[in-house]
Amino acid sequence: MGKGKAMKDFEGRTAVVTGAGGGIGRACARSLAERGARVALLDISADSASLTAESIGQAGGGAGGTTAVYAVDVTDPDAVEEALGRVERDLGPVTLAVGAHGIVRNHPFLELPAADWDATLAVNLKGMFVLLQKAARRAVAHGGGAMVAVSSVAGRGPRATCADYAASKAGVISLVRSAALALAEHGIRVNAVCPGVVDTEMTRAIHRQKAEIEGITPQESFARQAAKIPLGRIETPEEIADVVSFLLSAQSSYVTGQALNACGGLEMD
Ligand SMILES: NC(=O)c1ccc[n+]([C@@H]2O[C@H](COP(=O)([O-])OP(=O)(O)OC[C@H]3O[C@@H](n4cnc5c(N)ncnc54)[C@H](O)[C@@H]3O)[C@@H](O)[C@H]2O)c1
Repeated sequence: MGKGKAMKDFEGRTAVVTGAGGGIGRACARSLAERGARVALLDISADSASLTAESIGQAGGGAGGTTAVYAVDVTDPDAVEEALGRVERDLGPVTLAVGAHGIVRNHPFLELPAADWDATLAVNLKGMFVLLQKAARRAVAHGGGAMVAVSSVAGRGPRATCADYAASKAGVISLVRSAALALAEHGIRVNAVCPGVVDTEMTRAIHRQKAEIEGITPQESFARQAAKIPLGRIETPEEIADVVSFLLSAQSSYVTGQALNACGGLEMD
């Protein structure tokens, strides 16, 4: 994987990636750039997104490594609108979008503060709606496109210690289906990917917390988690990026409104 991806099937296209400073967003941005897209890196943290731009610049060696950074909070529709306007002036017409932003906080259900519920739903669900709607308006004007929202296997079932997160991710799957239905006539496909446990800062933070509670090391906590996954290991961000690029590409031209589990077999429904 990785090395064989010389295919430049996104050449001449402009892609927007939110959460582009995070583990999965960075891998997605990189995959798109490797395949020839110009990539707009949106994140609430300009520093993280800049690190992504640097890593793509180094890896891309110039060819296919065109990126630009936009510091944006996805919960602010005006800010996203303004950023997309700048993206089109800087990088060209937006026809591809990836929503890879997100937050998670762990609270037992009985202790989950309502304010945390609001914050999680605002970033993970409202933020995804804002991205998909605003990117879709651009893609409609340009004759079509494709979009992928990063949901989670947590959107497939219950979570005792992050009910807010699970609800937000179930909401993303529903949102993707509605958007796909509404946008099909405009030649825009919309799909979701549901990762399981990916080696990113989000996961590492959870395992640092778990390890402390259980009196073990974060590495032991990771190993315990991996043992519960049918494929026996934590997944890499690049393995999600491969699925995202597939869902954006012509190779999935008849796939829309789907939520694809990419989770090592953790979830099979
Ligand atoms: N890591 C996993 O195991 C895992 C599993 C399933 C789903 N996911 C989902 O994948 C997505 C990416 O997660 P990750 O693991 O790369 O996490 P991450 O913490 O590495 O990255 C998340 C990024 O989102 C950005 N962000 C947060 N709030 C934002 C806002 N309001 N506006 C714009 N950007 C914002 C952060 O700055 C960060 O760069 C998330 O939606 C997450 O829920 C992750």
